[in-house]
Amino acid sequence: MTPAARIAAAIQILDRILAGDPAEPALLRWSRASRFAGSGDRAAVRDLVFDSLRRLRSRAALGGAMTGRGLMLGLCRDEGIEPSTIFTGEGHAPPPLAPAEQAVTAPGRVGERLDLPDWLLPLWQQSLGDEAEPVALALRDRAPVWLRVNLRRTTPEAAAAALDRDGIAVAPHAALASALRVTQGARRLASSAAYRDGLVELQDLSPQLACALLPAQGSLLDLCAGGGGKALALAARGAGLVVAHDIDPGRMADLPNRAERAGVRIRLAAPGGVSGRFDLVVADVPCSGSGTWRRTPDAKWRLTAADLARLQQTQAQILDQAAGFVAPGGHLAYMTCSLLNAENADQAGAFLSRNAHFSLLEQRRYSPLTASDGFFLALMRRC
Ligand SMILES: C[S@@+](CC[C@H](N)C(=O)[O-])C[C@H]1O[C@@H](n2cnc3c(N)ncnc32)[C@H](O)[C@@H]1O
Repeated sequence: MTPAARIAAAIQILDRILAGDPAEPALLRWSRASRFAGSGDRAAVRDLVFDSLRRLRSRAALGGAMTGRGLMLGLCRDEGIEPSTIFTGEGHAPPPLAPAEQAVTAPGRVGERLDLPDWLLPLWQQSLGDEAEPVALALRDRAPVWLRVNLRRTTPEAAAAALDRDGIAVAPHAALASALRVTQGARRLASSAAYRDGLVELQDLSPQLACALLPAQGSLLDLCAGGGGKALALAARGAGLVVAHDIDPGRMADLPNRAERAGVRIRLAAPGGVSGRFDLVVADVPCSGSGTWRRTPDAKWRLTAADLARLQQTQAQILDQAAGFVAPGGHLAYMTCSLLNAENADQAGAFLSRNAHFSLLEQRRYSPLTASDGFFLALMRRC
């Protein structure tokens, strides 16, 4: 496909997304209907779509319309590509610009410049203060790929050497040697021997830094386990009994395979089937995901104030439920991948005022300015 044909494909997919289709299924539908597209074309079209979603408002402002075509015109203007070289109407290229499209506009409103929804701006500002603008701008770029070395199976040096044999280059984090940033060859990861043999797992840096702060002795309950990223990380550090639970057991479907690959044992609990007390309870609760909008940029535009209010209610309920599983002297780790105080410090603070027998040991917020994805940890102890 020519660069212009790829842009024409992205226009078509973005129009479906703007009409309400989620991004991944919209891309999949295009892929299935486009047998002529090679793997390089698919990757390039995917990048065009996701880059546009990360910068939806600023690109629409630059392109003069909130449409697939407006977004691609905005991309040309943003990246200094002369639109008439793409919008030629020849072959599979998009039709030439109409006179009304020739006028260049620019992002004017704060929400357009920062690529955030207007309703969220006051909460964003209040949560991030001086970092509100640089963090919002950082979320407009692609996220890096981080790996966690499985110390049960190997060392960071041996994992890096194994990845190198498969053409994947990595660099260790300065303070956490078991966190490796992929600097080359990320698309080869899934088929690499290091991944297949459980030497490394995909996990962003921020949750790795947060998990490194948790006590990993004794028994562990991962109450909202999902794919099991936190349970696997803590099991690899040598926690004793590890129980994973999720209200939606389908979310844990891959966990037995991942645990086997990693050489760790994780017991799955049926929904509502957890009993007893644990030395550490992890509550990695459902949240706005505002810290991970580089990876799921369409979620940034789907979130509403009503969604956020519902999420806050669920978070408070899960925290109260989680507290009941913490053994005396044990720990409760509240985690979100959000950057909003309403889901983070405010939620932890409200829990502590409802539960006088818990005290706060540590509270950390990670952001792309200091780590990688936005992430929050409140580590509390039951007396
Ligand atoms: C942020 S995700 C967890 C991600 C996971 N810990 C990981 O590292 O991959 C939140 C999870 O909470 C689950 N969940 C939602 N409400 C719940 C509840 N009341 N009890 C337990 N799990 C719940 C969701 O199904 C979802 O899988």
